[in-house]
Amino acid sequence: MNQRSQVYVTRLIPEAGLAMIRDRCDARLWEHELPPPKEVILEQVSDCEGLLCLLSDDVDGEVMDAGDLRVISQFAVGVDNIDLEAATQRGIPVGHTPGVLTDATADLTFALIMAAARRIPEAVDKVRSDEWRTWEPRGLLGADVWRATLGIVGLGRIGTAVARRARGFQMEILYNDPERSMEVEEELDATYRSLEALLELADFVTIHTPLVDETRHLIDRAALRRMKPTAVLVNAARGEIVDTEALLEALEKGWIARAALDVTDPEPLPADHPLVGMEHCIVVPHIGSATTTARTRMAEMAAENLLAGLVGQTLPYCANPQVYEAGTR
Ligand code: GLV
Repeated sequence: MNQRSQVYVTRLIPEAGLAMIRDRCDARLWEHELPPPKEVILEQVSDCEGLLCLLSDDVDGEVMDAGDLRVISQFAVGVDNIDLEAATQRGIPVGHTPGVLTDATADLTFALIMAAARRIPEAVDKVRSDEWRTWEPRGLLGADVWRATLGIVGLGRIGTAVARRARGFQMEILYNDPERSMEVEEELDATYRSLEALLELADFVTIHTPLVDETRHLIDRAALRRMKPTAVLVNAARGEIVDTEALLEALEKGWIARAALDVTDPEPLPADHPLVGMEHCIVVPHIGSATTTARTRMAEMAAENLLAGLVGQTLPYCANPQVYEAGTR
């Protein structure tokens, strides 16, 4: 970079990444708590070569056409908020941060499984509200995780890391994915099942697919009706994979026992939404990758992608590698 490139960063990411960017570019930063409105992004990218964005920013063709972007770098692994096809058509590589948040997200998934099974939020509330009177033989009975059947929908990086944790709990592992993985089946003793069979058999169903057209509302009314009335649904992937209205009905009518959600549709879920007030539903605010290590590494990777794109190098972690095949870059 002879001349310092102008870049727009849509939120305060960890300093490790910001320092790398500031070192090489003129960075303008949206420092507010909430995401920048679309008009602000449109205006800001008009003279920028690079955009570093978050999963809460809608990055469509309009944003891409508002300036002359050489690179879009997403501070997340999921890129469903970015129109990848539009980016590829325009020859803009899109970076993301796979791998470094896998274990943090798998840990959080397990925390949700355990918290729902053992009713941790209800137990905490009981103590806080001064209702802990004595040791109760029938109080707050939950479900066993140990040796239960886990159904993993989407056996990618995070789904596999969840399966690895499940081995320690001697769970029976079922999975569904567009592709069978013989290696994981062998290593973790996981069994491939159709989605329908998995839903019918699992005590815990956990979702780890990306959000694409085929997975939007994958867990709909019919899917929820297939699950056991004692089952727990966990979603740490994307909110729109589950039909929120159908989930509400399933919990109200007892089609399933509990849900634990790190992601919701809409997101954020308003505090007065019925799912938030339900005793048998746990909602946490999209914190899957929220460990210091994961977020620091994500910031560095996002910066690496941004800086590579600005000098026309292949992005080290690219979400639309077809952009290079197309020969437009
Ligand atoms: C978080 O949800 C991510 O996609 O990184």
